[in-house]
Amino acid sequence: MTSTFDSLRKFLYARSGLSLEGDKLYLVESRLMPIAREAGLSDLAALLKRLEAGDRDLGQSVVDAMTTNETFFFRDRVPYDRFRNLMLPQLLAARAAERRLRIWCAACSTGQEPYSLAMLLDEEARRLTGWNVEILATDLSRRVIESARQGLYSQFEVQRGLPITMLLRYFQRAGDRWQINEFLRSRVNFREFNLMSDFRSLGTFDVIFCRNVLLYFDVPTKRDILARLSRALSPDGFLLMGSAETVIGLSDAFAPHQEHPTVFVHKAMQRQRPELMLVAN
Ligand SMILES: C[S@@+](CC[C@H](N)C(=O)[O-])C[C@H]1O[C@@H](n2cnc3c(N)ncnc32)[C@H](O)[C@@H]1O
Repeated sequence: MTSTFDSLRKFLYARSGLSLEGDKLYLVESRLMPIAREAGLSDLAALLKRLEAGDRDLGQSVVDAMTTNETFFFRDRVPYDRFRNLMLPQLLAARAAERRLRIWCAACSTGQEPYSLAMLLDEEARRLTGWNVEILATDLSRRVIESARQGLYSQFEVQRGLPITMLLRYFQRAGDRWQINEFLRSRVNFREFNLMSDFRSLGTFDVIFCRNVLLYFDVPTKRDILARLSRALSPDGFLLMGSAETVIGLSDAFAPHQEHPTVFVHKAMQRQRPELMLVAN
């Protein structure tokens, strides 16, 4: 069993960067046995054999099952306040000539994060008239991207973090669930994308939300992803991470914002333009 576990762990690491500690055998069993059974396989050793034989669909299901997709609307609230009060005013001033903003949610799960941003941007619609604002929302898991595109949420999900005024304004009833309206759905471009792959095809972004995902990776992978994120972020752009995450000790390119430690900026920009680091409430 240990060698099957080790091989599954290596498979997952190679495909997703997700790193499982040695004590996660129970997690592998509880998440992968249902997949094995559904494929008509009796145990994890048989599942591994199929993976090693190159079964791509099964590989996708295994990776999907091993991701943790916990998320909710306006998670931690403060990053969204900073987005509205600090980042947006600075970027609107800095991009006044081209009138274009690009935002990337790099591990968007079932879509609550990019839809929270789309709602905030809609509330700022008057300031954004004539602007081209793109929200790209990506995740490794096909299952969550399909669900995010539909924008269907349970009563429980819409009660977590979403102000009632926004529920009434941006959602409609769909049976016993709620669906985010078509306009907001059309504002977010959802795509499957693995953070282990090359970011260059995506272009550069003014704001990157990469929240609550790096914690699942080992240190070399975190370093590598942060180095590539620094190249994908415009020089005066902002990177947001989860409340328990940091770049400290992992990146020479980023520095925490001096007033808000979960907002990160290019170190060079912090030195050259300290006035940009002040919070505009
Ligand atoms: C805990 S959720 C975070 C969702 C959201 N960012 C938030 O903070 O609420 C982590 C997400 O990271 C995704 N993920 C894990 N490994 C990934 C990878 N290599 N590339 C892209 N997404 C990945 C998972 O599928 C999962 O949906």
